[in-house]
Amino acid sequence: MSEFAFRPNTLYYGDCLDVMKNWPDASVDLIYLDPPFKSDAKYNILFGKDTEGKARDPMAQFTAFQDTWYWTNDANESVEKIKGAVGHPAHKAICGLAEMLPETGMLAYLVYMADRTAQMRRLLKDTGSIYLHCDPSASHYLKTIMDCVFGAKNFRNEIVWRKYAGRKSNAKVKYPTQHDCIFFYAKDAAAHFAPQYLPMTDLEISKKYTNVDEDGRRYRLAWGRNYQTKGEQRKIYLDDQPGRMIGTLWVEDGLQLNTSSSERLGYPTQKPLALLERIIQASSNKGEVVLDPFCGCGTTAHAAYNLKRKFLGIDISPFAITRVCKDRLKNAAGMEVRGLPTDLQSAHAMWKDNPFKFERWAVTTLPGFVPNDIQTGDGGIDGRGMMLHKPEGEKGYVVAQVKGGSFTPDQLRALLSQLRGKKVSMGVFVTLEKVKPTPTMLKVQTDAGSLTQGTHKYNRIQFWSIAEYFEKVRSPLPPMRDPGTGGGMQETIPTE
Ligand SMILES: C[S@@+](CC[C@H](N)C(=O)[O-])C[C@H]1O[C@@H](n2cnc3c(N)ncnc32)[C@H](O)[C@@H]1O
Repeated sequence: MSEFAFRPNTLYYGDCLDVMKNWPDASVDLIYLDPPFKSDAKYNILFGKDTEGKARDPMAQFTAFQDTWYWTNDANESVEKIKGAVGHPAHKAICGLAEMLPETGMLAYLVYMADRTAQMRRLLKDTGSIYLHCDPSASHYLKTIMDCVFGAKNFRNEIVWRKYAGRKSNAKVKYPTQHDCIFFYAKDAAAHFAPQYLPMTDLEISKKYTNVDEDGRRYRLAWGRNYQTKGEQRKIYLDDQPGRMIGTLWVEDGLQLNTSSSERLGYPTQKPLALLERIIQASSNKGEVVLDPFCGCGTTAHAAYNLKRKFLGIDISPFAITRVCKDRLKNAAGMEVRGLPTDLQSAHAMWKDNPFKFERWAVTTLPGFVPNDIQTGDGGIDGRGMMLHKPEGEKGYVVAQVKGGSFTPDQLRALLSQLRGKKVSMGVFVTLEKVKPTPTMLKVQTDAGSLTQGTHKYNRIQFWSIAEYFEKVRSPLPPMRDPGTGGGMQETIPTE
């Protein structure tokens, strides 16, 4: 069975396009997607921010994901492919947009979204719905794509979600942006929808329901349908009403994540559970399947689980899947994580198939480690973490270099030079198979020296292998910080 086979209650590490391609037609009831918005920003997490405030140097933060787009050969190929494929659901939109827009990051982003939303259409049942969360950076173009892929007649609403409870802005030449847009489309006319309600406020009640009957029930008077002929009014009782129907302005307090919210997991762009619970309740039934193809820290999966729906979450970040979502959903019975190596053999296979994906995953086998930014060389460093207790006068960073295949002593010396730069306290050389250090390697290790924490002495250069990870050997590191919360963290244990 493919690692990406369709299996509800599963989190997948991978590009959602690669994962969704494996799934059968009409298998999902509801899709919520909160993809990169083409904001041209990097979304960072700060190590240890709970105790230390803002990041002071670039080493103190890592990029959870990037939202910058460039015109590349791949983008060009995708545009040409869709332009030539008259049956592609986004064919007309991409032909038009390619005519109108220059070959820049915007067009690259839109063709990326066109390919992925086309897959989502295939997966959605006729009774299903899709909610696309975006912001004004590209919402106008995204709606064109959605109209083309899902049909303009299936457009149901544009929802305005107020994302900040209150925000000071330094915008000098424009109004500060306070909202995101959520486009809601049905797959077809048969799509399930249950209107949602909020309790009425005391003010609304006292203004609207001004009468009280002999039983003490509050009511208001309303004209019947054919009031012109009958001239009668009927009583609408307050206690018969489900509340105030929710419209397209989702602005009320409690629907945002405040900085101090206990829900916060330290993942940038995390959405509140209340937002997702509203969408899931309106557009799905218990037991149905809810997909989030860009699941981040797993808010949709968590809300679906709370509401007794089945979930599917996909993310391209191993940090999001292995550290945050997996932990958040650990109580979901039968929950599985796919797309990650489960033994040494599958780790070898991942390295051969996609060395970059392998490196990003391999660093997360070390407690508290996160992969480095996608396009940076960073002197061969593939990931980093931060010690819970910094050595005196040091910053406490630990860096990792991953080698899937053979390596040379020079590469190990490069790691040593990172330590000499004084910013880094320890370096870990990560290999697939366990290495037996040669005399040259041992010399480099000795030259790097050691440090003491409590009663333990740690070599500043350590060797760590994926083989040891699967043998459940303890990592060779001192206590490390959780990169999301800044607190201490547990060892990673491989999934059986
Ligand atoms: C805006 S965040 C989603 C946040 C999420 N709604 C939450 O509440 O945590 C977008 C996510 O999409 C992921 N991502 C970017 N490109 C992806 C792709 N091609 N396939 C799957 N995930 C992707 C990023 O790693 C990031 O976690």
